[in-house]
Parts: sequence; structure tokens; C-alpha cells
Amino acid sequence: MEQHVKVKFPSNIALVKYWGKHGNQLPCNASLSLTLSNAFTETSVHFSEKTSKETEFSYLFEGTENAKFGQRVFNYLQQQPEFSTLLSDFAIQIDSANSFPHSAGIASSASAFASIAAAFLKASGNYSEENFQQEVSRLARLGSGSACRSIYGPYASWGKLDGINGTSDDYATPVLEIHDNFKTMRDAILIVESEPKKVSSSVGHGLMKGHPFAEARFQQANTHCLEMFSTLKSGDFEQFIQIVEREALTLHAMMMTSLDYYLLMKPNTIHVIEQIMQFRKDTKFPICFTLDAGPNIHLLYPSTMQKEAQLLIDEFLANKNVESVLYDQHGTGGIIL
Ligand code: DP6
Repeated sequence: MEQHVKVKFPSNIALVKYWGKHGNQLPCNASLSLTLSNAFTETSVHFSEKTSKETEFSYLFEGTENAKFGQRVFNYLQQQPEFSTLLSDFAIQIDSANSFPHSAGIASSASAFASIAAAFLKASGNYSEENFQQEVSRLARLGSGSACRSIYGPYASWGKLDGINGTSDDYATPVLEIHDNFKTMRDAILIVESEPKKVSSSVGHGLMKGHPFAEARFQQANTHCLEMFSTLKSGDFEQFIQIVEREALTLHAMMMTSLDYYLLMKPNTIHVIEQIMQFRKDTKFPICFTLDAGPNIHLLYPSTMQKEAQLLIDEFLANKNVESVLYDQHGTGGIIL
């Protein structure tokens, strides 16, 4: 038997950040993200007859072998009982490619693991139609936490929240009530520096263990998530901006105040943030920023603000505050091709 599965899953940008985990990839707090559409991973998996008793597995990233990530993927697949028959019975060839440059600093593990989990679950047949997405989300989480949110769009939350039905630490769920103001959001990713990160997210999550502010941070994030649910429903830009920017700065504050402290922001990160805040003060336009675990800035704005945001972006480019810009926007989650 030969089988071929091809899927496409997007990246996502957290508005309320997942930072700190325990047990088997369980979050210390709830998080909530905007699903993207232009930044995605396409993964094809080819299952064919084995020629020996040995494991036959290869992982190609954009046509070339990537031993390090391939090993992480293999270890992940081996740990999931749902995939054990596929691994023991077939020769497996995975081909993955990103739509965005590797150097862009966009978290590629989210789209990568969402796509791998979906392709393998689809091939395994170990699901029912009603629970397919939930199972993809759960399995994606076991590969990379943020990946579980890439299943749904335009917004998804992950982590049990008192008072919000259906939320879970095991998988993400879509945020259902979205005001028109937030239905068509844009994310212009301002690349300040395209070098790979110096400290991985896994190390960063680890540093939340024994962090002096950990408990207060986890509580704050849960409160922000609850507030974000009502903000997305009411359409309140002011509250949206406050939560999103406070979250971005708190994430970096956690890194700067951990026992092994570190700093990922660059001088241009600060400069660009200050300019965005000043521009908003002067114009009252609902344009704000968030940060990932890196120096690059995600400029967030509703599609009605496209022209206004472009003025700001053009200035950053002209002044060489940013190297380049990747334009993205709200998305609907992954698909099986
Ligand atoms: C700052 O999902 O990359 O982007 O579970 O170890 O793979 P692992 O971590 P990862 O962490 C993402 C951290 C973040 C915030 C977020 O996406 O919520």
C-alpha cells in the first residue's frame, strides 16, 4: 500500500503569550493568538512499503536533509501511540517547506508541528470526523505548544479558563465571538534582525521554573485571556491595544528578570516601539505592536488602517530601522490538500 498526504498549516502570533510549561507540554497559563495566513508550512508525507525491518524515515526541509529538526520530528512521532503502526509498518518520507524565509524569526515550529500532526493523524485513520481538529490540535501541542493554536482561525485560545466553556490545557479551541472590528486584522512583521534566536523558546519556558515573578505572571496572563475574550467580542480597540502591548513587554520582562537573564530586543526594536506609540498618540489610529521571543516587531492593525500603517512602515524602511517587512493577515487555520 502506498499513501500520500499533503497538508498546509499557518503560523500564529500570540496576543496573550504562552511562556512557561509543565508536565507533558502543558501550559502554565492560557494563551490566545491571531492565526496568520501567508506564513505557513506545507508538509507532504509519503508512506510506502518497507524494504527492511529497520525504521525507514527521512525528513527533508525545502529539499535538503535537516538532521536536527528531523530527529526532533522523529522523536515526537515515536512518542505518539496514534502513529506507532505507521512508523512500524511503512517507510516514511516527509517533505516540508515554509512559505516564509527561515531567517525571518517567525516561529516555524508552530506551523511545522501543526502540519506534521495533521498529516500523520489523517494517514493513521485514528480519528472520527467530529474530533479530527481537536485531535490535531492536541497532537500538535505535544510537538510544540504554540502549534496547537494554528488549527483554527482567526483567533484561537489554549489553556483552561474558568468561565469559558470548552477551553482546555490539552488542546486549543476557536474564539467564536468576534466583533467586525477584529475580523480582518493585518500583521506586518518588521524584521529588525534576521539572525536566528540566541536563546530557544524551550530554554525560555524552562526559566519560568523558579522565576521570582512566575505566579503573578501566570495569573496576569489568565486575566488577560479572559479580558481578550470580551474585547474581541465588544470590538474595543483601546483595550485590545493595552492587553497586546502589555503582554509583549511582559514576555520580554520575564526573560530579562529570570535567574539566567537575557535580552532579545535590539536598539531598533526599542526605537520602532517608541515610534509606534508616538504615532498612535498623535493620530489616535488603532495600530499597535507585539513581540515574539525575538527582536522583530509585529505591527497589528485592522485592514481599514492599511494606508495609515503603510506610512509608518515606509518611514521605518527609509530610515533603515527595519531590514524588511513580511505582510501577513488573519487566517482560517490549516487544510488537508
Ligand atoms: C513566545 O510553542 O515555541 O511564541 O512548546 O517549547 O515548542 P515549545 O514552545 P513554543 O513557544 C512559543 C512562545 C511564544 C509565545 C506564544 O506563542 O504563545
